[in-house]
Amino acid sequence: MAPLIPVAKPKLPVASAILPYLKEIDANHWYTNHGLLWLRFQGLLAEHWGVESNNVALVANATIGLTLALRASGVRPGGLCLLPSWTFVASPAAAIAAGLRVRFIDVDPATWMPDPAAVAARDDLDEIAAIMIVSPFGMPFDVRPWDELSERTGIPVVIDAAAAFDTMRAGGPLAIARSPMVVSLHATKVFGIGEGGAVVCRDGEWLERFRRLTTFGFLGSRVSTAPGINAKVSEYGAAIGLAAFDGWTAARARFAALTERYRRRLGERGAVGLQPRFGEGWVTSTMNIVWPSDCQDGAARLAAEGIATLAWWGQGCHRQPAYADCLRDPLPATEDLAQRTVGLPFWLDMTPTQVDAVCDAVHRACGAEARGDAASRPRAAAPDGMPVRAQIARAVAAARSERR
Ligand SMILES: Cc1ncc(COP(=O)(O)O)c(C=O)c1O
Repeated sequence: MAPLIPVAKPKLPVASAILPYLKEIDANHWYTNHGLLWLRFQGLLAEHWGVESNNVALVANATIGLTLALRASGVRPGGLCLLPSWTFVASPAAAIAAGLRVRFIDVDPATWMPDPAAVAARDDLDEIAAIMIVSPFGMPFDVRPWDELSERTGIPVVIDAAAAFDTMRAGGPLAIARSPMVVSLHATKVFGIGEGGAVVCRDGEWLERFRRLTTFGFLGSRVSTAPGINAKVSEYGAAIGLAAFDGWTAARARFAALTERYRRRLGERGAVGLQPRFGEGWVTSTMNIVWPSDCQDGAARLAAEGIATLAWWGQGCHRQPAYADCLRDPLPATEDLAQRTVGLPFWLDMTPTQVDAVCDAVHRACGAEARGDAASRPRAAAPDGMPVRAQIARAVAAARSERR
């Protein structure tokens, strides 16, 4: 049976919001290859991130963006790329597509990211061709130690900022510094166009190399100066992006309200951990919790109540068959996080009633209620004695009527 509360329900601009831009495409007879809408969309992204227009390049998706970012950084084919296993499989896929070999490194459980001091102290840095750092689900972090490491050692650092569209906004908590950052505009992200990505870099020469690689090695002529591929975004993708910008302020406000409600409702009992820095001035499209060690079957218990969850990063990339043979450091923090982290339902049109139903179910699942961990806040759901699944169904029905 389909869950009563799904884990994700992406929402892109509706057809009527995109239509005016489609009509512009009809009138322009310009469908791809750096068209007028493409240019405007790229300009809006640059403004959003507080950089110059020529510091942003659109790309077909973030996976290809990461691959080409590594190539534009001049990585040595066959060299080793350090990257966390605690990421989505796109990160190691991009490193391998760029001709590198992967070595997985562990993360700091407090930040969900590798510790820059620990990486700087490694004794194998002379064997390392590149470092890929991942912002976990869009979380802000200090880029400076990575930039310093890159400058000191000459090892290129590329930042997988797939979910950091909002975190990187002008004045936002993730500052754009020296290392190139790659953002995904996939439908599941907080700002999506279906398939798409963008790369931000303040180094104009680097960005020019990157652009060439997205367009057959051409730049301003039909002379191919690098073995580039076709990673362009069409005018249709840009049309969705322009419409998404029209609705962004309202969408962001809803994501922020959802974030705040989850933070308050789950934080008030402290029974489960939240992803580091969740809700501290940034929004994303996922909501991850960390079960306490004594709660082995939290996800199954939520499923029994009709609430879907998803381990967005599975058991870590090193546990995926495709990457099981990659070199790796010991990964105890990754193993522990992977076993206990799960994504809860989180999507734009979720109502407060649905969030409360999920939070109550989480507290039931990890026994916080039985232990009486804290607040005695009454349940949002239904009369005593009603089966749990019926309570959730009632919450969903209430949510539907709230939306009307
Ligand atoms: C951490 C991370 N890196 C890279 C990607 C790849 O993005 P795309 O789907 O745009 O290729 C994703 C997608 O979800 C991601 O979560």
